Amino acid sequence: MSSVAHRNGNHKVGPRPQGSALKASSFKSRLPPSPSPSPAAVRRSSPASLCGPVKDPDGVPGRVRVAVRLRPRNAEEMVADADFADCVELLPEVKRLKLRKNNWDADTYEFDEVLTEYASQKRVYEVVAKPVVESVLDGYNGTVMAYGQTGTGKTFTLGRLGDEDTAHRGIMVRAMEDILADVDLGSDSVTVSYLQLYMEAIQDLLDPANDNISIVEDPKTGDVSLPGATLVDIRDQQSFLELLRLGEAHRIAANTKLNTESSRSHAILMVHVRRSIAGEDNLSNENGNTSHLVKPSRPLVRKSKLVVVDLAGSERIHKSGLY
Ligand SMILES: Nc1ncnc2c1ncn2[C@@H]1O[C@H](COP(=O)(O)OP(=O)(O)O)[C@@H](O)[C@H]1O
Ligand SMILES: [Mg+2]
Repeated sequence: MSSVAHRNGNHKVGPRPQGSALKASSFKSRLPPSPSPSPAAVRRSSPASLCGPVKDPDGVPGRVRVAVRLRPRNAEEMVADADFADCVELLPEVKRLKLRKNNWDADTYEFDEVLTEYASQKRVYEVVAKPVVESVLDGYNGTVMAYGQTGTGKTFTLGRLGDEDTAHRGIMVRAMEDILADVDLGSDSVTVSYLQLYMEAIQDLLDPANDNISIVEDPKTGDVSLPGATLVDIRDQQSFLELLRLGEAHRIAANTKLNTESSRSHAILMVHVRRSIAGEDNLSNENGNTSHLVKPSRPLVRKSKLVVVDLAGSERIHKSGLY
């Protein structure tokens, strides 16, 4: 069983697609906190000079986009689910998923993207995450979340390192490749935190002893920070892969200690991008003509954040008390 998310954020439980839903959004950094409690809240400021965040065919800028991905059936499901093989029908051309209740009745859901079992990791990244990564590089904050039952492919989609086959690289690895390719490490910086949220407590996956990290929100800017979380400066892809490996090992160890499964905690990767933007103040003379005198350029720093969340398995939401 897996939950799928409706286009407008309504959730409906359906009978057995092995799919997970991916949500992606971005908004300009340093916006005041939105009063809307809905995860589908639209948050964007749109100065014309800035490239907007995720482009949206509906003309609703910056709204949360939802994609569904169906993974291939495994050998066990091939046998056990043979009678239900046509229960879930994907209609990628019209971006719909149909859940057949019986021969004459079906529910249809519309998504921003429908990714079939044949969709490659590359395509999933390009359709779901790349627009968010591009917004982050433009100074917006962006989030990609994977939601679905345990075993539906959330970690495969987000966290695969692609050690054995680079085609298998997931969203985290591909996002960092694009970020590192775009920034200038001479003047910009990329720092990463990797955290786990379990029963309201935040644990540092890069320093597991640090297991009670607080969340602080700046009342003026709305900036959320996690003082005490390890921040690692990333300068190359290899060190990022090491960091993901270390985080995953700590996640397994921490969950063994807590006697929980990793599927009951949320894993949160935060990538902070700080870019130096040269600012120039031209001095105007009394006639309004620009003087040949140019003030030395003021270095401006633009901060943005990419958050990638591998959510806890949706099947135990009520029992686990995670929400
Ligand atoms: N798109 C896919 N193609 C092939 N195998 C997949 C795909 N998605 C998931 N899998 C496999 O399904 C299993 C469960 O995936 P996983 O990502 O661990 O699920 P989750 O994180 O949602 O619990 C894993 O063995 C994974 O390799
Ligand atoms: Mg997982």
